[in-house]
Parts: sequence; structure tokens; C-alpha cells
Amino acid sequence: MSTYVVVGLQYGDEGKGKITDVLSAKSDYVVRFQGGNNAGHTVYVGEHKFVLSLLPSGVLQCKGKCMIANGVVVDPKAFISEIEKIEEKGMSTDHVFISRRAHVIMPYHILLDTYREAELHGDKQIGTTKRGIGPCYEDKIARVGIRMIDLLNPEVLKEKIQTNLKLKNALFEKYYGKPVLDFDEIYNEYLAIGEKLKHRIVDTELELNEAIKAGKNILFEGAQALMLDIDFGTYPFVTSSSPSTGGVCTGAGVPPTALQNLIGVAKAYTTRVGNGPFPTELHDELGEQIRKVGFEFGAVTGRPRRTGWLDLVSLKHACMINGINNLVITKLDVLTGLKTIKVATKYKTEDGKIIDYFTSSTTKLYKYEPIYEELEGWTEDITNARSYDELPENARRYIEFIENYLGINVYLVSVGPERTQNIIRKELF
Ligand code: GDP
Ligand code: IMO
Ligand code: MG
Repeated sequence: MSTYVVVGLQYGDEGKGKITDVLSAKSDYVVRFQGGNNAGHTVYVGEHKFVLSLLPSGVLQCKGKCMIANGVVVDPKAFISEIEKIEEKGMSTDHVFISRRAHVIMPYHILLDTYREAELHGDKQIGTTKRGIGPCYEDKIARVGIRMIDLLNPEVLKEKIQTNLKLKNALFEKYYGKPVLDFDEIYNEYLAIGEKLKHRIVDTELELNEAIKAGKNILFEGAQALMLDIDFGTYPFVTSSSPSTGGVCTGAGVPPTALQNLIGVAKAYTTRVGNGPFPTELHDELGEQIRKVGFEFGAVTGRPRRTGWLDLVSLKHACMINGINNLVITKLDVLTGLKTIKVATKYKTEDGKIIDYFTSSTTKLYKYEPIYEELEGWTEDITNARSYDELPENARRYIEFIENYLGINVYLVSVGPERTQNIIRKELF
């Protein structure tokens, strides 16, 4: 049995897609277990750029199967368009499957997400990706959701869409003052989608558990990140799923005892897209410079990402909840040329207390001041470094500072967006 879980430790966009792509070459399965097409995972292959939202980032290299497991919320139209884009580039997607239990993002979920965000103002707005993620998970928990399997049963689909439209249309018309949705149009469209996708809709949990028993290499790819986790993130400025390693168990139907290599991905600094607290955010020219050099613009929405220093207090929280046993630090190259690099190791609370743990109070977090340690930077280009020894001393000091604070080894340092731009300190496979 060899299982690998890749999760984000900050606010998303840590480079999970790139790392998953690299690891997928040796994987028999690559599996998404939560989130939906709110994710934007970038993979560079030569001059070709792929942004994967719903498909596992293993789709390009994995010789086995790619699975969208039960915990994912699937917009089937987004799925089809992503499949088509990959096939247009001459690659096969015959190895991609979706769980029968995965919930379907319906048009009313996307509208609800959009109307709700429009209703909130200023710092109350979450800044969602408007992909219908939250409303779809709500329906799942409320037990009125439509699952992939339902797209294959005309009677069940009819009844479920009718029931859902009754309430949703009332809300659209009476509360939001918006047009209602037409039953026939939605029913016919989603029935046709079911027909089109039926050969890909399977019981992913059965096959995955058999593969675990057979000792296959299985890679679980997280979307979003721990600071956006519905329970442990900066609630309510979070997504509606569990992007933690724990989410793999419920999101893919595999037992906790089956999870071995828990790989946490963090950028060498911090970014956040969307609203919510961000203690180490930079509002100055340096923040702008990091955004420019790191090309920090949302892969899904194109929004500029907020940028700031590495926050070890929140990273420790993320590693604890996830039980991370292997760290990946990405985008170290972006810090090249900075004279000094700051790292937050503690927070000062609004009443002057010094703490080194993360808080559950999102409102208080806005008022916390990070306490920084300063490390010396380096000027040498590191994008061609392929072994740890090739890194300048100060870059190694930076990595080791992170390791010492967290008590976890950094097994891979990423020094550029390309597949090959990695320093791998320990072969995991
Ligand atoms: P994900 O959502 O975690 O998969 O990350 P995104 O793909 O949204 O954002 C990460 C961005 O950083 C992408 O544009 C990647 O191509 C890029 N990237 C990943 N690793 C590195 C790295 O080590 N250095 C640089 N310069 N860019 C990187
Ligand atoms: P990847 O997988 C960064 C953010 C949104 C918003 C909040 C809720 O590429 O790291 P949602 O649409 O999920 O209801 O939005 O979460 N968000 C992400 N931020 N990377 C992501 O995914 C994100 N997915 C959602 O910006 O603040
Ligand atoms: Mg992303």
C-alpha cells in the first residue's frame, strides 16, 4: 500500500497542481476528493500551460486512472468543457472517471452563489469564485442534492429537479427579484449530460479500496487549502468543503489507516485571493513586487492575489490539523533578490499578549499583529538548482528555519513553474 496526499497549507494556490503533476508520473491513481471547479491548478509542460479546475492534475501524466471522488461537487458542463480542451491538444481523457455519489452543481447553485455575493457589501463579501460550490454543498447536507447517479435515472432526476425548483424559483422571484428557471430546459439538458457521461460514472470508492489492498500507488490531490477549510480555516471566509487530509476519508471513501504520506504544500511567502483576514499581508510596493515576480493572479478568476510574508503560526496550525509528514516549499525563486526576508513566528493580540497559536476568532485575527524574525536574502538565480547543495547558503537557512519551527522536513523545494524545476531531497515513491 502506497498512498500520497497532497494538500495546500495556506489560502490556496500554493502550487498543488504542479506537485501533483510531478508525482502523478509514478501514480496508478490520481484522485480529487473535495471542492469543485473553484480550483485552478496550473501545470506547465514545455510552453504549454494547462489550468485544471475539476480534473485531477494527474490527467496529463498518469498512466493509470484519474478519479473525481464522491466528496467533489461536479459541474458537469465544466467537466465536459475541460475534457474537450485537453482532447483538443491531442491528449486522451479516457482514463477519467466520476463517482456515482458525487453531487452535481446545478444552474440554480451558480445563480444563488452569484446573487448572494452581490447582496453582501465591502468586507462582508466572501469573494467566492461564483461556481456554485457553497450552495451545492448546502443541498448535499440538506439531503436534497442531485447526485451523478441521478443523471442516469430519468424518473428520479425529474422529481428531484421539480422539488428543488419549487423552492429555488420562489427564492429567485420573491426574494431576489430575478427570473425563474424553466424545468423542461434544465431537465432535458441534464438528462442529455447524463447520457453523454454515463461511461465515466462509476463507484470510485470500491475501485480505490481494491487498489489500496493491491498495493497500488494512489495520489489524492487536494484543492483549496487548510486556511480555507470549512472547520479550521478563517470562517466564514472559507470554502464549503474539508481540504484537509481528513477530507480524503469522507471525500473518497478510504479509511484513515490507509493514508501514509501526507504532503503539505506551502509557498515561500503567502497569498490569498478573496476576502478575509491575512495577518502578514503587505500593502506596500514590496507586496506589489511579489505579485509581479510571482505572477500572482487567480488561475480561475484572474483576480490579483493579495501577497504577504510567510506566516509560520498559521502554517503550524495547518500542519497540525493535517498531520503533515512531508513538506513542499514552492516559489522560493520568487524571493530571490530581496535583501531581507521576514517570517511571522508569533502574533501580538489586541490586548498585548504574545501568542504562537492560531485563533478561532476571525474577528480578532484582523487585529492581531504578526511578530517577525528577519532572515538575510540571496541574490543568485536559483531556478536552475536541482540539488539542495546548489542553493545559496541563505536560501538553505530559510528552508531550515521553516523546518526547525515546524519540526517537519522539507522534502521538495520548487524553484520554478516547470515540471523539472525541483530540488527533491528524498524520493517518496
Ligand atoms: P494550485 O492551485 O495550488 O495548484 O496553484 P496555482 O496553479 O493556482 O498557482 C500556483 C502558480 O505558481 C502557478 O502559476 C504555477 O505555475 C506557479 N508555480 C508553481 N510552483 C512554482 C515555483 O516554484 N516557482 C514559480 N515561479 N512559480 C511556480
Ligand atoms: P486552488 O485549488 C484560492 C477562495 C475564494 C473565496 C473562498 C470561497 O486553486 O488552491 P468558493 O468559490 O470556494 O465558495 O470561494 O475560497 N477559493 C480559493 N482561493 N485557491 C483556490 O483553489 C480557491 N478556491 C476557492 O476566492 O475566497
Ligand atoms: Mg489555484
